[in-house]
Amino acid sequence: PPSHVTLPSGDRMPVVGLGCWQSEPEALTKAVAHAIKVGYRHIDGATIYGNEKALGEGIKLSGVDRKDIWVTTKLWNDDHRQEDVMKACRRSLELLGLEYIDLWLMHYPAATDTNPGDYNDINVLDIPYTDTWKAMEECVDAGLVRNIGISNYSKTELDNLWNDCRIKPAVHQLERHPYLPQNAFMKYHKEIGLHVTAYSPLGNTNPSFNDRDSLPPIQKNTAVVALAEKYGISPANVLISLQVSQGCSVLPKSVTPSRIEENLKIVQHTEEDIKSIEDATKGQRARYCDFSDIIGYKYYVGLDDSD
Ligand code: A2P
Repeated sequence: PPSHVTLPSGDRMPVVGLGCWQSEPEALTKAVAHAIKVGYRHIDGATIYGNEKALGEGIKLSGVDRKDIWVTTKLWNDDHRQEDVMKACRRSLELLGLEYIDLWLMHYPAATDTNPGDYNDINVLDIPYTDTWKAMEECVDAGLVRNIGISNYSKTELDNLWNDCRIKPAVHQLERHPYLPQNAFMKYHKEIGLHVTAYSPLGNTNPSFNDRDSLPPIQKNTAVVALAEKYGISPANVLISLQVSQGCSVLPKSVTPSRIEENLKIVQHTEEDIKSIEDATKGQRARYCDFSDIIGYKYYVGLDDSD
């Protein structure tokens, strides 16, 4: 399987990146340093994770040259005003201790006031994401970021931006696992030439998002277990490999040294392997990420509207 994907800028992004969501800062610094030591060259952060400083410290601790590491981070919803975007970018750079970001994503196609602590109190602001994007393009012009992309967009939102931008998004990061394959949307990305990065490849385990509670953990799925035996790898490896086998880059999150190392083992699944997982999860669907539930967004994020 490919180890890198080439983006429109010509930059080569490693296909497996360490996810950093829900990692406590202290644990994250160690996790990042360990990950780099065992071979990761791609770390995926975000301002809202509250651990950019720890991420940057992990990179320094690793001793590996910054230029050899791919760093992604994300603009949060409360910095969508055009005059706030570059400030937010500089703040991320400062926290990370870096001079440039390899890939900067708009975390959601949605602008809000700063979260006062309770999702229900958030005010959604009427700032078009196409305007926010223009300010992100200026951060590319200013040399602060090398590539810009999006996350959690629906097809309609993607089309709106795609047709109204100077620099096209280089990557779309969205939730993807066997309970949320989004195959029609995937095909669409291939057609327009937009690379997809899959987050939550193991199906997401955040207890606050429980629409998957009626379903067994994907790692226990019979087809996944059978493939793990076939290849002599773990069920987690099967699920992470599935994303790479389908042309995505993938972001397994772990702060556990043995898992961080294990998650780098990628095999190429055959069409039959992929079908066996699809057959064994048919009709079973779960997603963690549905902001429409939490803060009354009308957005149906990260999905083809018809999917
Ligand atoms: P931990 O960080 O404690 O090692 P997702 O990215 O799909 O949301 O999954 C992340 C969760 O899966 C985390 O709770 C992480 O735990 C756990 N995890 C990561 N890698 C593995 C693995 N190889 N086997 C089992 N669980 C894993």
